[in-house]
Amino acid sequence: MCGISAYIGYREAYPIVVNGLKRLEYRGYDSAGLVIYDGKKMQLSKTKGKVSDLELITDKEEGRKKGNIGMGHTRWATHGVPNDINSHPHFSQSGDLVIVHNGIIENYDTIRKELITRGYVFESDTDTEVLINLIEEVKLNEGCKLGKAVQLALTSVVGAYAIAVFDKTKPDELVVARLGSPIAIGVGKEKKEFFIASDASPFVEYTKNAIYLEDEEMAIIKIGKKVKVRKIHDDSIVDPIIQKLQMSLEQIEKGGYDHFMLKEIHEQPKAITDTFRGRMLAKENMIKMSSIEDNLDKFLNADRIIIVACGTSWHAGLVAEYLIEDMARIPVEVEYASEFRYRNPIITDKDIVIAISQSGETADTLAAIKLAKSKGAFVYGVCNVVGSSIARETHTGAYTHAGPEIGVASTKAFTTQITVLTLIALKLGQANKSLSDEVFENYIQKMELIPKQVEKLLEIDEHVKSIAAVYKDATNCLYLGRGFNFPVALEGALKLKEISYIHAEGYPAAEMKHGPIALIDENMPIFVIATNKGHYEKVVSNIQEIKARSGKIIAVVTEGDTQVRDIADHVIEIPDTEDALTPLLTTIPFQLLSYHIAVMLNKNVDQPRNLAKSVTVE
Ligand code: F6R
Repeated sequence: MCGISAYIGYREAYPIVVNGLKRLEYRGYDSAGLVIYDGKKMQLSKTKGKVSDLELITDKEEGRKKGNIGMGHTRWATHGVPNDINSHPHFSQSGDLVIVHNGIIENYDTIRKELITRGYVFESDTDTEVLINLIEEVKLNEGCKLGKAVQLALTSVVGAYAIAVFDKTKPDELVVARLGSPIAIGVGKEKKEFFIASDASPFVEYTKNAIYLEDEEMAIIKIGKKVKVRKIHDDSIVDPIIQKLQMSLEQIEKGGYDHFMLKEIHEQPKAITDTFRGRMLAKENMIKMSSIEDNLDKFLNADRIIIVACGTSWHAGLVAEYLIEDMARIPVEVEYASEFRYRNPIITDKDIVIAISQSGETADTLAAIKLAKSKGAFVYGVCNVVGSSIARETHTGAYTHAGPEIGVASTKAFTTQITVLTLIALKLGQANKSLSDEVFENYIQKMELIPKQVEKLLEIDEHVKSIAAVYKDATNCLYLGRGFNFPVALEGALKLKEISYIHAEGYPAAEMKHGPIALIDENMPIFVIATNKGHYEKVVSNIQEIKARSGKIIAVVTEGDTQVRDIADHVIEIPDTEDALTPLLTTIPFQLLSYHIAVMLNKNVDQPRNLAKSVTVE
């Protein structure tokens, strides 16, 4: 969480830093700040609130915008409430050093007490102010340069960090370091300028050359010089790899939509097609996935597959459990990464762990992977962000290719995760002959139709909007589904909760009788997935039970359905497909519904309160 955007070079730093922070706001947005150095003064502006609030302040302080070196931060509070004082950047006591930090220094209290005994006084409640003063103390004690002081200080901290540090007595360099939180360095032409950011989006229009620091690495960035990278703990030199960015500016802009979430919902036909690319060979009735083919023996001889993930990605994992067990007959368990990592799970070298993550930076998922690897399991990653920590930590894996997802509520990441996981289930089912050729080929042909079907489905937007208008003032909602669509019910409820703040619960439809049915009255909207295959009659009975208690039914049905239409208050039709593929379609109306309700309630759709896109703290 938290976003870092910094610049050192020949251009005005302010617009680069501020625009960078706006692109990184998905990482946290409870306070923002920046410092611009003009060769003489460190000009600091910071505030509780969003980057737009920061801009309002700096607009009044026009003079504070000049200078070719700048560092900015958008915060998701960990230590200390979100207020002006706790906002970053933070200065050292002398005022010479300044830092922006993403992560948590766990032993900050011990260090703070120690520094207080040495005469340091702290203004904020943050671990970050402790870290910059520790760096200053080391620098003074050792009489060393900034880079060495940062390195020595970091060897005595416990926790996670991505930091950028500037010393006004050495104004041609920035020092950055990472452990557990991402940091990218954009290398400008002839090394005349450098961009530092939590991901590459802030500098994509300036350079396509990026260095991604690995954990426990630090870099000294000096104008006109090659970036010097070394390991923090053993001091070994690392030759930095300059990667070519694939990301384009259009991908990270709203492209005419009011919100990123809406844009990303509408991008799903393309995103799923991109996920298919090179893998779904429908004409040849084939799936090509080298990451599975190269490890087929491991998959086919595994005792079980354990899926670890958080939030929406966990819901995708649950869909995968149904898919893999149904299609490939391999036992699957799905675990919240945060529970798995701490519950002393039984893992052996006969287990395969699949880690699912959009960002590839979720701290709990990353820790679960490390635990599984330490016990000998083979770990396969399903990630969206190329080069992310999870993508690098797993033995192999498949990217979802959804493109940048900026809205905090995950949409296209979810459907592309399910797409990859469906391909894996089909591939394994074909390989171990759990699926006959005929069934496999039928799936391939139906799967191929999905992007077009999603495109058609998106035309229901106005209809869903009219339903949203009816239920926008509900205070509680239930989402019900069975089989492959039970996880979609969970995901539908999560989408509504996180962006509209309406309480919603997802349940397997049959579980309703074991408790939630007590909640049902004439004010309760119940969203039911009642597509015409898998358990249709059972779901119809569940709908009858709800109607008998005056609940309002909004049913997602297969086009042409008449039975549910007769009973439900509203129906939303999806195109016909195989039962196992319906999650790729039933999800869409719920995304649109949550979006419209949140807009009607005037909520901040792309940046819901208290959330952050990338949860890099546990
Ligand atoms: C919900 C949402 C979160 C994430 C979760 C895991 O819309 O986005 O629940 O799914 O924080 O994030 P990743 O997939 O990046 O590991």
